[in-house]
Amino acid sequence: MPKHFLMCRPDHFTVAYAINPWMDPEAGADRDVAIRQWEGLKAVYESLGHQVSLIEPVEGLPDMVFAANGALVAGGRVYGARFAFPERGPEGPAYLRWFTERGYPSLEASHVNEGEGDFLTLDEVILAGTGFRTDTAAHQEAQEFLGRPVVTLRLVDPRFYHLDTALFPLDGRNVAYYPAAFSEGSRQVLRRMFPEAVLASAADAEVLGLNAVSDGTNIVINSEAGDLQLELKRRGYEVHPVELSELRKAGGGPKCCTLEIRGEN
Ligand code: ARG
Repeated sequence: MPKHFLMCRPDHFTVAYAINPWMDPEAGADRDVAIRQWEGLKAVYESLGHQVSLIEPVEGLPDMVFAANGALVAGGRVYGARFAFPERGPEGPAYLRWFTERGYPSLEASHVNEGEGDFLTLDEVILAGTGFRTDTAAHQEAQEFLGRPVVTLRLVDPRFYHLDTALFPLDGRNVAYYPAAFSEGSRQVLRRMFPEAVLASAADAEVLGLNAVSDGTNIVINSEAGDLQLELKRRGYEVHPVELSELRKAGGGPKCCTLEIRGEN
């Protein structure tokens, strides 16, 4: 099943502020390398038959490349993002406008949430992160608006500040995750819900290996996450490693750059 993704070219990408432990404004990042790596990611999606739409990058919003944070889209309905840090604030309305201009039913959020960074949609439930960015009140708001059960998971390690840095859906029913990123209670929830989950090591999590995108057959994943790739192959997935080291300097990987536009389902 081909997917539809929204992406934002990193034309204005830079590390200008630090809102997560990966970011070091002194060290900065090379924009040209970031653009080249991002083009590589987009090309992989297209080679797999997925459709990529683009949103116009906005000057002064260096993190706008991380499209996953722009909204949560499920069943063709768009729950808008409301960013925790003022540096990223204007991205919420920019992404929401993209959708409203195209006629998507949408809701401007009353509560802080960073879109698909903290909301991951499975067949029956939406998994939702909290602890660093997204407020649990937004979990409720999304549940009401989308009519899907939302399961709260608590993140405890600041390096894994968004749910999509610590967990990714393998398909509509199963996930891969890094247990130590979650509170004890949330780890129990994950064990109950996903007894067959792929558990990632610290080394794989530390290269943002869990910030991956699966279409159920193919998995696009940071090239450095070696053991995780082996395990995914062992489970029968086609693994497509990508090099996104420059974007990791802002704390992002393949999934962060990718907002899935989910239609009716
Ligand atoms: N610098 C960005 C931030 O800290 C990175 C966002 C990464 N996006 C994601 N979906 N995890 O907000």
